[in-house]
Amino acid sequence: MDKLLITGGRPLAGEVAISGAKNAALPILCAALLSDEPLVLTNVPRLNDIGTMLKLLAQMGVKVERDGDTVTLDAKGLDNPLAPYELVKTMRAAVLVLGPLMARVGHAKVSLPGGCAIGARPVDQHIKGLQAMGAEVQVEHGYIDAKVGKLRGARLFTDMVTVTGTENLMMAACLADGETVIENAAREPEVVDLANCLVSMGAQISGAGTDVIRIRGVARLHGATHRIMPDRIETGTYLCAAAVTGGNVRLTGTSTNYIDSVVDKLMDAGCEIGSERDAITLKAPARLKAVSLRTAPYPAFPTDMQAQFMALNVVADGTAIIRETIFENRFMHAVELIRLGANIRIDGNTAVVTGVDKLQGATVMATDLRASASLIIAGLVAEGETLVDRIYHLDRGYERLEEKLGALGATVKRVS
Ligand code: EPZ
Repeated sequence: MDKLLITGGRPLAGEVAISGAKNAALPILCAALLSDEPLVLTNVPRLNDIGTMLKLLAQMGVKVERDGDTVTLDAKGLDNPLAPYELVKTMRAAVLVLGPLMARVGHAKVSLPGGCAIGARPVDQHIKGLQAMGAEVQVEHGYIDAKVGKLRGARLFTDMVTVTGTENLMMAACLADGETVIENAAREPEVVDLANCLVSMGAQISGAGTDVIRIRGVARLHGATHRIMPDRIETGTYLCAAAVTGGNVRLTGTSTNYIDSVVDKLMDAGCEIGSERDAITLKAPARLKAVSLRTAPYPAFPTDMQAQFMALNVVADGTAIIRETIFENRFMHAVELIRLGANIRIDGNTAVVTGVDKLQGATVMATDLRASASLIIAGLVAEGETLVDRIYHLDRGYERLEEKLGALGATVKRVS
């Protein structure tokens, strides 16, 4: 099992390119199921989760070609609407095939994703919405088995803001009879990127990016070419790594669009942020000021940046209160940070982080994707060597992380 060995203490400096967004690419790959014509995607990140999704689509009969960061998908030969447990258990985003399959072929058998490290993460809202559109859904033997003659447009309301729930239902509605309105819709930029791709395929969608999305069903969708938006979470992760090491970096192929809440917090912590059309610069102070935060659906502070900001607060001047309101168990990085010398007190979904002057390198264990990033960030500023174990979590969501950090002057080595 791979590990990452980090020698801390060096400020990050230089320039690195940000990849396409994992959480935009995953639903957009599934959008290919909606058409019998090719969908060409560019700026697709090279990540394990993307590889898993392409494997799943190929098993369904989709022709998949990959050439660097361009992926071409042709679902003309779609003949097996099944997402098996073996694949879904490694990547819960596979549930995103449910909506497009119901729209295109009226049948889907998708393994229940099951929980994951950060929480139970049920998909009841996905099912409720499809049932409202006329689908018959059985959940048995660990599988969602859904059937329908043809989906019909409906007025849907999700009990809570759900990103992939909104995405599944928006894709299902594209080929339904009549109009669908999704109330309480997720406003995340990745939902908007998916909507833009669907519209380029001929879908009729308005309101993406607001909490009411209207979709008028059409007979079929045609092929298209779409460029995946930049990864705002990868962007925020590198900004935090530069901030905590007193660094001075320029991130290209990205922008401060979509991460205003993160940029605000970094500025509150004392960083100077420069915003260009297709790049961001960050110049860190000698020592960061502690910043409190509360995660919530977009445009508030993203839960996917909470772990990275905890690492930043661990060595900041002052005490920060961090509240996680989206997932019920997303503080597992805290106990690992404490092994590095952090002063963190967890009370339910609140963490009180009191900044310490320095961390000491140690062996720590990654538990989930963003927790891994948090431990890497702490390792970059800890004295001596930090060995991060179970970094397969990291490879799911960060492309060539040690290479990119190395280009910024960090001493990071992958060891088996
Ligand atoms: C998406 O997950 C992202 N994944 C997550 O990123 C992200 O943390 C999350 O949105 C929140 O922003 C992808 O886009 C592939 P939700 P998703 O449905 O859609 C509850 C990462 O690190 N809920 O918005 O699964 C759920 O339990 C990953 O890249 C239900 O109860 O999250 C959670 O508490 C981690 N029933 C809350 O809603 C449902 O049917 C928000 O979940 C659906 C969700």
